Amino acid sequence: MLNKMVEAVREEGLRMLKAKEIRTEEKGGPEDVVTNYDRMVQENLERKLREILPQAGFLGEEGLRAPAQDHDGSCFIIDPIDGTMNFSRGYGRSCISVALAKEGRVVLGIVYDPYQDEMFTAERGKGAFLNGRPIRVSDRGLRKGVVMVGTMPYARELADRTFRLARRFFDESLDIRRSGSAAIDICAVAAGRTEVFYELKLWPWDYAAGSLIAQEAGGVAMNCEGSDLSLTEASSVLITNAAAWEDAAAILREVTK
Ligand code: IPD
Ligand code: CA
Ligand code: CA
Repeated sequence: MLNKMVEAVREEGLRMLKAKEIRTEEKGGPEDVVTNYDRMVQENLERKLREILPQAGFLGEEGLRAPAQDHDGSCFIIDPIDGTMNFSRGYGRSCISVALAKEGRVVLGIVYDPYQDEMFTAERGKGAFLNGRPIRVSDRGLRKGVVMVGTMPYARELADRTFRLARRFFDESLDIRRSGSAAIDICAVAAGRTEVFYELKLWPWDYAAGSLIAQEAGGVAMNCEGSDLSLTEASSVLITNAAAWEDAAAILREVTK
């Protein structure tokens, strides 16, 4: 099943690469946009994934809220394009994120960055992979680490705490980064390229697949209060390797406003 899902995701990634006539509309405001490709990729994925697992429900960013009509409690969680602002400007830092959850737990995750041709995959209990090769988080602690910052542009009331945290993480690490795609950032931690990612509000489609990939790569995935990530509502997100986790969690406890 993973292979069939991977092929469906790859085809849609190639569609992103060849995109012509990208039309952008505002959803919630000028910072919250959707393109004709977000809708097209989601519709295509829904159709293709339905063929693979007809009984599963769907949760997708672009208005896909069909409850699981199924008997086994499985649900696909899809972000057709994570990093839409980047995509709409030809900034080449976007991906597709697809997770499969069963009885409230992610069991399979795929994140595909078509620009780098990087396919991240994980199945629960079987490890995490990049283009078929096993990946592991790094063993660098925070002091020797690079921290990925998510700015949650759609909830600006969180900006003060977000940027206080960024300042603190900057002081305690080597440097910070901001890509514009949460799923790519999470996979960067999983692949051992960076050590910490945080964002104070994301939705399950942003992190469901990436969080399993990070955990299967030996990392920690939780919300910023130290609890499990929700698969039904928005949540803060902290992804780290094991070595940086305690220091990162302490900073999140200290910088509360
Ligand atoms: C967004 C990206 C961005 C993050 C936002 C997300 P979208 O997803 O992941 O990096 O900062 O919070 O909503 O809207 O491009 O799918
Ligand atoms: Ca997203
Ligand atoms: Ca999206």
